[in-house]
Amino acid sequence: MESGWKTIIEPFKIKSVEPLGFTTRGEREKALRDADYNLFAIPADKVLIDLLTDSGTSAMSSDQWSAIMRGDESYAGARSFYELERTVRDLTGLRFVMPVHQGRAAERVLFSIAGGKGKVVLSNSHFDTTRANVEASGAEAIDLPVPEALDFSVPGDFKGNIDLRALEARLREFGRERVAMIVMTLTNNSLGGQPVSMANLRAASEIARRQRVPLFLDIARFAENAWFIKRRESGYAARSVREIVREIFSYADGCWMSAKKDAFVNIGGFLALNDERWTMEAREILILGEGFTTYGGLAGRDLEAMAVGLREVLDEHYLDYRIRSIEYLGEGLRSAGVPIVEPPGGHAVYIDAARLLPHIPAAGYPAQALACELYLTAGVRSVEIGSLMFGRRENGAFIPARMELVRLAVPRRVYTQSHVDFLIEAVADVASRAGTIRPLRLVSAPPRLAHFTAKLAPEAAA
Ligand code: F0G
Repeated sequence: MESGWKTIIEPFKIKSVEPLGFTTRGEREKALRDADYNLFAIPADKVLIDLLTDSGTSAMSSDQWSAIMRGDESYAGARSFYELERTVRDLTGLRFVMPVHQGRAAERVLFSIAGGKGKVVLSNSHFDTTRANVEASGAEAIDLPVPEALDFSVPGDFKGNIDLRALEARLREFGRERVAMIVMTLTNNSLGGQPVSMANLRAASEIARRQRVPLFLDIARFAENAWFIKRRESGYAARSVREIVREIFSYADGCWMSAKKDAFVNIGGFLALNDERWTMEAREILILGEGFTTYGGLAGRDLEAMAVGLREVLDEHYLDYRIRSIEYLGEGLRSAGVPIVEPPGGHAVYIDAARLLPHIPAAGYPAQALACELYLTAGVRSVEIGSLMFGRRENGAFIPARMELVRLAVPRRVYTQSHVDFLIEAVADVASRAGTIRPLRLVSAPPRLAHFTAKLAPEAAA
């Protein structure tokens, strides 16, 4: 299809549909109270448009559903495993492929081998489960984003990059023995879903090789990242996404994937690497917690669907639609005067709640308050990425996160443009009443990964 058309069309037709969860204002008020103002605790049938996450929420293709029927359910050496192994090797060039039930299982396996007390992991930004798994091993997770990544109102092409000067400085500070690995998260989910440039990845890998420190990629959204490279980085416009992806992996000693994102599956992931000793250890841990090494906690059919998804996501019509439709959401919010992280990311638009709600301090959880108001108004579920997720308490003192964002994560191939138009209208309505939104207070929360189960309540009126 020639390019140049103004209207973005979904590059698929719909074969199977499910109803949306329409509710009344009263039902939503009750649901929110019953959920203790934590959107993770709202039953999904009380949600109209669910933007909690783009993870495991994709619509699978008819090819993937066919693959489900082809799945080989043998305990060991299933045909479906070899199909996945071939696909991952072809994609990444890495030798050893281990399926896992989802991304964080790969993180737990990897960091129980590579982490440990006294070690550090350096990254453009760790996702929350990555950080938690690094820390659970006893190691320290250090984020080294480029400074412009935290300047949310200023657009930039590759705000997912790692700060190379800081990376070299930290390597000097700790010495190569203490640095377990460098992790590049593609795209950088914690800071706006922003991409990493090929130049930055290449430079990080040169530093890693010079210091003989392994470089791993967290590739949940690698194809979206590759599309940004094609669109934005000089020298890549004429290269195919497949070629770009091949170059990305040429810089990696290993990777792990939550296949629930760019591979369109509802569950699944894998760990892939070259090192034989680490692979032996990983297989042992895998058997202990996930399952035998050729299924890793998944059914054969899941492996088969994952292999199909990994090939489908390289389709350039799909990637063009995907990135442009997120941009469309960003443009709509921007024209309604809603402050967003600029530019829109690959899988989500992030509202800057600190700017929209300057009357609520970080300790009043402005992003969570905004997410709750959006649910009350229109049944739209989003997720807080702010002080509820990343804030800490040290010796009784509250240490806020570096950002107060509300992420509108868009499931793949699920919602159409009219859903997005409705969403823009709903957010604009909430934003027009921003000054009336009240702070929340934390009632209870566990020490780690608090945002999943925390209980909150509206702050009493002054
Ligand atoms: N890495 C990144 C960059 C992620 O975004 C996620 C999950 C994981 C690792 C962990 O993978 O969920 O399969 O165990 N992100 C989801 C999200 C949960 O909503 O962004 P998982």
